Amino acid sequence: ASRSFSQLPLNPQRPSFGIAFDIDGVVLRGRVPIGGSPQALRRLYGDSGALKVPFLFLTNGGGVPESRRATELSELLGVHILPSQVVQGHSPFKTLLKRFENELIIATGKGEPAVVMSEYGFKKVLSLDEYASYFENIDPVSQYKMWTAKQESGNGSDSKKLVPKYDATSDRVKAAFVVSDPVDWGRDIQVLCDILRSGGLPGHKNTQQPPLYFAADDLEYQAAFPFERLGMGAFRIALESVFNRIHCNALEYVSFGKPNPFVFKNAEAILRQLQSSCNDNAIDNGDVGSNPLKTIYMIGDNPLVDIKGARQAGHPWFSILTRTGVFRGKDNHAEFPANLVVDTVEGAVDYILKEES
Ligand code: G3P
Ligand code: MG
Repeated sequence: ASRSFSQLPLNPQRPSFGIAFDIDGVVLRGRVPIGGSPQALRRLYGDSGALKVPFLFLTNGGGVPESRRATELSELLGVHILPSQVVQGHSPFKTLLKRFENELIIATGKGEPAVVMSEYGFKKVLSLDEYASYFENIDPVSQYKMWTAKQESGNGSDSKKLVPKYDATSDRVKAAFVVSDPVDWGRDIQVLCDILRSGGLPGHKNTQQPPLYFAADDLEYQAAFPFERLGMGAFRIALESVFNRIHCNALEYVSFGKPNPFVFKNAEAILRQLQSSCNDNAIDNGDVGSNPLKTIYMIGDNPLVDIKGARQAGHPWFSILTRTGVFRGKDNHAEFPANLVVDTVEGAVDYILKEES
């Protein structure tokens, strides 16, 4: 299912196409580059090292600020990635700043979820780790957790004597954010249920559930292990199933990330900005609107997330499915078929550059 593209050479025009790369299962597995990703990405830069083709990473993962992720990706992939080229599942949380800027919010997930939210401008953020430490015995099995025991002995009795930043026993939590894949599902489900069924003050009676936001809703994703791993969507189902059994009202939540249409709209806007900085000799008056992106390629490994999202986004998106992650089929996916199926990301970039030359 290919399409005909402009036969104009890349130079001296600004390229009229852009690329969105999924990360897990397409360019990396864990921290290991896959599918010839370093070579493929290098082809998007000119000899001088300047960006020749506008591209970004569109991942549902996260846990560190975009600037840090850009540095990590640059080191792993051997090309210079700008923070603006990294869109993570939690990146759209920024849009909630006005509503919660000065309110107490809780952030959970691997990495540094509270740092992520603070960098977005939220002023009163506590990680769920820290929040839980203010409530003695909130996790009845914490003493059996090697990492908790280690942390406590490592800090002496410091963690017990932590001076609370906010009075967690009287300051109501106004929203909870699942920023990245939760590390301790059991503890997180317990404490989130405490917060959500008490109106933000564990132990109190209040049926008004504070808003709950998830950075993504991936049921499974491709990590370093050869078979898919349970993702944030699986955690959401677990939390929701328990919450709905112990509380009178069903759990209310909002999930961000792919396949939501606004994620693709936002990626398109960023690519248009990047396009304007590509090819300084371009015959263009600098107005990014003067040379619209005719095609944006989404290269992903998950039909239900990456391909579904690109299909829903419609024109100018063109979906390419690789076989290096969640999808391993011989033919196309039955329910969410991609415009093209290739083995690796290198094959995808090869196809794109041929089509666009
Ligand atoms: O935790 C990350 C996972 O949910 C998906 O990441 O890069 O495949 O969108 P990605
Ligand atoms: Mg993926």
